[in-house]
Amino acid sequence: METTYWREANDQAYVLNNNVHIWLIRYDQSESILAESGIILSKEEKERASRFHFEIDHRRYSVTRSLLKKILGKILSKPALKIKFTFNKYGKPELVQQSEKIFFNVSHSGNLGLIAISDIAQIGVDVEKYREEMITGDIAKRFFSDLEVTEFLSLNENEKLQGFFNCWTRKEAFIKAVGKGLSIPLNTFDVSLIPGSQTELRDVRYKNETADGWHLSDIKVDSGYAAAFIIKAKTFSVNYWYTC
Ligand SMILES: CC(C)(COP(=O)(O)OP(=O)(O)OC[C@H]1O[C@@H](n2cnc3c(N)ncnc32)[C@H](O)[C@@H]1OP(=O)(O)O)[C@@H](O)C(=O)NCCC(=O)NCCS
Repeated sequence: METTYWREANDQAYVLNNNVHIWLIRYDQSESILAESGIILSKEEKERASRFHFEIDHRRYSVTRSLLKKILGKILSKPALKIKFTFNKYGKPELVQQSEKIFFNVSHSGNLGLIAISDIAQIGVDVEKYREEMITGDIAKRFFSDLEVTEFLSLNENEKLQGFFNCWTRKEAFIKAVGKGLSIPLNTFDVSLIPGSQTELRDVRYKNETADGWHLSDIKVDSGYAAAFIIKAKTFSVNYWYTC
C-alpha cells in the first residue's frame, strides 16, 4: 500500500464540495471507537449489534456505523448521535430529512472497512478479503456475466485470485451505488477484471441504465484484499483518509 495514498484526516476531510472522501477502517485498531459506540448508536442500532452471533460481526457493524455517524455529524455540524437513517426497500441506508445532498455507502470484510461519502451522486463501495475457495469456474458462472466468465477463465492460475475479486468488488460497488441489491441481475452488466487492465464499467443492460457517466475505480488497500468504488460523475477529486 502506498504511504502517501491514505492520509491522517484534517479539516478538508469534512468538506464535500465536489469531493469523494474514502475512509479506511482497521477493526484491529478500533478499541476506542468501539468503546464510544455505546453513546453514539441508537437503541435500534445497539439491538441490531447485539443480534450478531460472532464478536467480529458485532465489532464491524458497531465500529462502522459509529464512525459513519461521527463523520456525517462533523460534515453537518451535528452530534453523531443525532444522525438518523432511513432505509430504501432494498436496505440501503440514507440520511433522514436532509436538505443538503449527501451520498454515502459502507463496506466491511475481514479486518478492513470502507466508508465512501460525497455530495455529487449516488456512490457504491465494496471491499473483499480474498478467499481462495471462491475462485472456481462454477462460482464465477453463478455471479458473473458471460463476458466476465470468459475473461476470468482465460486468466493464468496466478492471476485468478485478483481477477476474481476485481470482478466481485467492482460489481458489488455498482449494485450498491444503484441501491437495489441483488434485484439487479448480475449478468445485466459487465465490468473489467483482468489484473493490470483499465478499471471500467463496460456495459449495462439493466432497464434504462447505461454505462455512460459512471466512474469506477479500484481502491488500494492491504494486500490480500480488493476494493472498489463507483460514482455516477466524471469530474471530482478523491481523498483517502485513515479513521482509526
Ligand atoms: C446488501 C448487500 C449490499 C450486501 O453486501 P455485502 O458485500 O454482503 O456487504 P458489505 O459489507 O459490502 O455492505 C454492507 C453495507 O451495505 C449497506 N447496504 C445494505 N443494503 C444496501 C443496498 N441495497 N444498497 C447499497 N448498500 C446497502 C449497509 O450500510 C451495509 O452495512 P451495515 O449493515 O453495517 O450498515 C448486497 O449487495 C448483497 O446482498 N450482496 C450479496 C453478495 C453477492 O452475491 N455479491 C455478488 C457480487 S458479484
